Amino acid sequence: MSTPFAGFQNEVYLNGLFGQQPELPFGWRETEAAAHQAMTAEAVGYVAGAAGAEDTMRANREAFDRWRLVPRMLRGIPAERDHSTTILGTAMPAPVMLAPVGVLSIVHEGAEPAVARAAARLGVPMIASTAASHTMEEIAAAGEDAAAGSPRWYQLYWPADRELAASFVRRAGAAGYGAVVVTLDTWQLGWRPRDLATAYLPFLQSIGIANYLSDPVFRTGLDKTPEDDPGAAVLKFVGLFNNPALGWDDIAFLRDHTRLPLVLKGIQHPDDVRRAADIGADAVVCSNHGGRQVDGAVASLDALPGVVEAAGALPVLFDSGIRSGADACKALALGAAAVLLGRPYVHGLALAGEEGVHHVLRCFLADLDLQSGLAGHRSVHELTRESLTRTE
Ligand code: FNR
Repeated sequence: MSTPFAGFQNEVYLNGLFGQQPELPFGWRETEAAAHQAMTAEAVGYVAGAAGAEDTMRANREAFDRWRLVPRMLRGIPAERDHSTTILGTAMPAPVMLAPVGVLSIVHEGAEPAVARAAARLGVPMIASTAASHTMEEIAAAGEDAAAGSPRWYQLYWPADRELAASFVRRAGAAGYGAVVVTLDTWQLGWRPRDLATAYLPFLQSIGIANYLSDPVFRTGLDKTPEDDPGAAVLKFVGLFNNPALGWDDIAFLRDHTRLPLVLKGIQHPDDVRRAADIGADAVVCSNHGGRQVDGAVASLDALPGVVEAAGALPVLFDSGIRSGADACKALALGAAAVLLGRPYVHGLALAGEEGVHHVLRCFLADLDLQSGLAGHRSVHELTRESLTRTE
C-alpha cells in the first residue's frame, strides 16, 4: 500500500493558485494557539494543563530537542512511500494512532464521534477512552459510518470493581474494538494546579462518564437510574474511579476475561516492561500521560530506549510530546512500533470539529512522510538509531 501523504502539500499549493486560501493552520504551535482561542478557559486548563509545576510536560518536549535527524542523500527514494504496518492484528497506513483522550465534548460538541469519523476516513486507528463523553458503542458506530471496518482500540480505566471492568471489556469486544489498552498511571488523578485554580473537574458535571452511565453492571447497583437521579450516579462514579490497589494480579484477571490483545499504557521503567511480558501483555505504551500524573518524572522519550531494550519482542508504542513528523521519526528511530498523537488532534477538534481533526492528521502524516523521505529513508520502517545523533 503506497501512502502519498505528501501529496497534501501539492493540493494546498494548487488550491492557492486558484485563489483558495487555507482556513486552518499547518504548524502545531499555530494550531494550538488558535485552538486555545476557541476553547473556554476551563477547557484550556484541562487540556493544556499537567501535574504540578508542569516540569515533566516541558521535559517531554525538551527531550526531542536532544535528538537530531542526520539526513542521508542520493538513496533513490520512491515518489510514493509505503509506511503501512500492522500492530496486534490492526492494520494502519502509518505507525500512527490517536491516543485516548477523555471528555472531548468540553472542546467541541462533535466530541469523540467527530474524531472517530476523521480518523476512519484516513484509516488511522483511534483509541477510545473510558472517560469519553460518548459511549464506546456510539464512537464505534460513528467510525463505521465514515469507513467500514474503521480500526479502533478501547482504553480501560480500571474501576474499583472488577465486574465493571470485565463488563467494559465485554462491551468493547462486542463493539468491534481490536485491543484493550489498560492505562496504569491514572488510578487517581494527579495534582493539577490549572484545574484546581478553576475548581474544574468535568466528571462531576456528568461529562466524560457516558460509558459508566450506560453500563448494565454500573446501573445494577443504583437505587434509581442515572436519568432519574444523576447526582447519585456521579457519586457512584466518583467512588469507583480511584483504584490505588490495582496490581499485576488484576491484569492476570483481565487476561482471563478477554481474548482481545492487552496493551499496558503508562510504562516508563524497564522492570515494568519485563513484568508486562511475564503476565502475558501483548504490547506496552511508553507514556507519562503527557506529564499529567507525576511531575518531575522522566521525559517519556528519555525512558523509551530502556523500555524498548527490556521489551524484547513485545511491541512498544510511544506517546507524550509527539507534535510533528520529526518527533515521530525520532521516536520510531529509537524503537517505537508506533506513536500516539494526543493533544494536537484535540486542538484540531476544538478549531473545526471533524474537519479540524482530519486536517491535523493529514498535516501530521504528510510531515512524517516528507521528513522520513527527505532524511533518506524509503519508509519510516528504515528509521533506526543510526538515523539520529544526540546533542546536549
Ligand atoms: C489524556 N490522556 C488520557 N489517557 C488515557 O489513557 N485515557 C484518557 O482518558 C486520557 N485523557 C486525556 C485527556 C487530556 C485532555 C489529555 C491531554 C490527555 C493521555 C493521552 O492518552 C496521552 O498519553 C497524552 O496526551 C500524551 O501527551 P501529549 O503528547 O498529548 O502531550
